[in-house]
Amino acid sequence: MPAQPSTRIALRGDLLDLVADPGFDPGTAGMPPAGVRWRPDHWLLVEDGRIVGTRPGDDPPDDGWERHDHAGKLITPGLTDTHVHSPQIDVIGSYGTQLLDWLETYTFPAERRHAEPAYAVPAAAHFLDALLAHGTTSAVVFPTVHPGSVDALFEAGRARGMRLVAGKILMDRHAPDDLRDDVEQAERDCVDLIERWHGQGRLSYAVTPRFAPTSSDAQLAMAGRLCAAFDGLYMQTHVAENRDEVRWVAELFPDARSYLDVYARHGLLGARSVLAHGIWLDDDDRRALAQAGAQVAHCPSSNLFLGSGLFDWRQAADAGVAVSLASDVGGGTSLSMLRAMADAYKVQAMAGTRLPAWQALWACTHGAARALGLSHEFGHLSDGTLADLAVWDWATGPVARRRDALADDLHQRLFAFMTLGDERNLAATWVAGRPAYVRRGETA
Ligand code: GUN
Ligand code: ZN
Repeated sequence: MPAQPSTRIALRGDLLDLVADPGFDPGTAGMPPAGVRWRPDHWLLVEDGRIVGTRPGDDPPDDGWERHDHAGKLITPGLTDTHVHSPQIDVIGSYGTQLLDWLETYTFPAERRHAEPAYAVPAAAHFLDALLAHGTTSAVVFPTVHPGSVDALFEAGRARGMRLVAGKILMDRHAPDDLRDDVEQAERDCVDLIERWHGQGRLSYAVTPRFAPTSSDAQLAMAGRLCAAFDGLYMQTHVAENRDEVRWVAELFPDARSYLDVYARHGLLGARSVLAHGIWLDDDDRRALAQAGAQVAHCPSSNLFLGSGLFDWRQAADAGVAVSLASDVGGGTSLSMLRAMADAYKVQAMAGTRLPAWQALWACTHGAARALGLSHEFGHLSDGTLADLAVWDWATGPVARRRDALADDLHQRLFAFMTLGDERNLAATWVAGRPAYVRRGETA
């Protein structure tokens, strides 16, 4: 058989990415901090799905390249959402409760529906298409307690070539009868899912205890054994989100030093652990997270919407904890990572910290990829990485356009983009060098 001809694609636009953690340095006017890579009006060259180079906008590649001219648009790496619940887009924007009531009232009934593949399969496709329509190309996802919900999600992820980290929710107590598992069956289901999905293409398995209150000690111990038994597994859960929840965990686990310590004792803290929220942690907890190399997925939209509290990003960063950004839909009210960036800025402003746009972008691109141990694969526009890309209008609508035109430097421009923008700014999304979403009336 003759070798397949290579696919050569070139996209033109303003290329912006981060090559190193910019910290909390906004830079000086006209001069971004080290780590920011800005290549206005360039062609990005993509061969067989991978980035292979760039060239100036006025020097296009030859006809051997399929050219997509987005001159004047912003091209960033595809965004990463490090904590999102696929079944919860059905309850996004539900009124009037804090975490524990919200779970009972809205979330558990929505998750129950995913017992049926006839529901779970199209729902997973709809969820991933929605991520792509928001510029999100990789995600760390909670499906439901049902193994079939993981199959549905991974099947749909494989079909789209997306980078997904996900696993069956573990939940053997304090949940409705038809949403509970037990230790033995859950272990068998996890092993089966790991053997069939973990490491297949861009899919990785995450051991997923929902949160400490819904798993017995025996189940958490089983989760820890799984993490130790298989290479490269992730662990995802929630920690210290809400004050009533924290009090409940202290009652349920009287021997643990803290909420985080419940997980640490069971071997669930490691470099591939993604812990959502982490609002009510103390210094010892932050030290433990930093030592383990675990990351906090900061979910500002959810924290505001559910009245959970204000996460102190700076305190975590100063302790050496990796912080990524996440929507936490359906506690969060938007899949847009631009909205997460803007909400994060406001949450930090409440603590007197200014979150530069660079750090916000880092936390849902290269920083998230690095915290997941996947920066060789995505998160920046460097040669050799997969071409997961988002193509954006810098501004939409008269107000944002006027603001954009008046921006004096790149930081002001990017900050206005993330503060005023959302999925309506998105023109196209590419996954591994293929168009995965194209706005109506647009060409990829
Ligand atoms: N804690 C346990 N489960 C959940 C959930 O589904 N959403 C949020 N925000 N917190 C949780
Ligand atoms: Zn969550």
